[in-house]
Amino acid sequence: MSDTEEKRGDGFPEGFLWGCATSSYQIEGAVDADGRGPSIWDAFCREPGRVAFGQNGDVACDSYHRWPEDVRLLSELDVDAYRFSIAWPRVQPDGRGAANRAGIDYYSRLVDALLAVGIEPWVTLYHWDLPLALGRAGGWTDRDTAYRFADYAGTMFRALGDRVAHWTTLNEPWCSAFLGYEAGEHAPGLRDRPSALRATHHLLLAHGLAVDAFRRGACPGEIGLVVNPATPRPATRRPADLAAAGRASVERTGLWLDPVFGRGYPEAYLAARGASMPVEADDMELIAAPIDFVGVNYYNEDAVKAVPATPLCPDGYAYVPTSIEKTEMGWDVVPQGLRRVLGFISRSWPVRELYVTENGAAYSDSAAADGSVRDAARVAYYRGHIAACRDAIADGVPLRGYFAWSLLDNFEWAHGYGKSFGIVAVDPKTLERKPKDSYYFYRDAIAGYSE
Ligand code: FCB
Repeated sequence: MSDTEEKRGDGFPEGFLWGCATSSYQIEGAVDADGRGPSIWDAFCREPGRVAFGQNGDVACDSYHRWPEDVRLLSELDVDAYRFSIAWPRVQPDGRGAANRAGIDYYSRLVDALLAVGIEPWVTLYHWDLPLALGRAGGWTDRDTAYRFADYAGTMFRALGDRVAHWTTLNEPWCSAFLGYEAGEHAPGLRDRPSALRATHHLLLAHGLAVDAFRRGACPGEIGLVVNPATPRPATRRPADLAAAGRASVERTGLWLDPVFGRGYPEAYLAARGASMPVEADDMELIAAPIDFVGVNYYNEDAVKAVPATPLCPDGYAYVPTSIEKTEMGWDVVPQGLRRVLGFISRSWPVRELYVTENGAAYSDSAAADGSVRDAARVAYYRGHIAACRDAIADGVPLRGYFAWSLLDNFEWAHGYGKSFGIVAVDPKTLERKPKDSYYFYRDAIAGYSE
């Protein structure tokens, strides 16, 4: 191949999609601008002790105002696609009723600007910023939230469906349900397992209703779901540990993908909890509305061993320490875990297309004397995980694209601004953007230069 020929991604199939991802609450700021209503995260951040250093997304990266700069950074990176999310409370400040034109216009301008520089917008409808009014009415434990979501989704399909060809309904619904309602780590901060299970069903129903609205609206694009599967490896090859590893993956995989692919809820999982789901007539058919792709967010892989089941951990497994190098989140760096999880998903469910919709690492960076950010550990992380994608494709996984998380250092939920995932640094005071070495590495990887 000559140097002048278009060549993207060394060893990747033609048409493989290269992208970068962010989410609304993590980057936009401008929480009171142009009629935006409050979200459950605005309220959660104000509760003492919830978020590190009492931080919040009031300003974040101010992408609500600085998006032209973000688009320029994406354009110079030469990505094919930008995955961002829509803040539901900008569109429906109370989560219901008439749409707020100014909110829609913001996303409409962003979409036009991306298309103008040849970047495909990938829109996530829900990345955790539920309108607070719905949160106060029960949030995802309330069945009505699913219908409200479908209504909001329909509004967005009508507003942007002529220009957006890829939609995802929910980002990592496991986090919404279990970090939000069982672990208490994310908004709304409950610690109640029955609520987490109710939320699971209503999130899936919301997803199904939105897919149904998308098909009925005859929207031309594709729609899918983004999950964060975990397939921990067994600490040893003992049968008990092998079985424990299988059980440990269900809450992050089969609990979501079984119903979406028409297999109903995993019975052993519910039985271990003595639980049932608040299923009503036709729910399971709606949830199983055919989707076009599954998005996989992957950061790390853990190891587990078998332990006796307890009420706290009814699946009978426990995490064990490993010798593996960790990121600033304390997460093991396991590139081949990405290959394993993609293989597991493509073997276990009839997925037509898979995308890695998030992958990246937090490290504490510091600028060198000349201002450059030499984030060698993040570069190594990307190098390993991009290679693992190539391996997965060679294994026969229908992997069609990869999105780096994240374009910018941003508000990392309960960790506040203390954990940096960006390939572009954002100065906390001036909000000035500064590409790190990982940004240049990713640009070169997309251009197909191998080292
Ligand atoms: C994922 C979230 C994303 C970001 C990364 C680090 O779980 O989808 O918003 O916080 O983790």
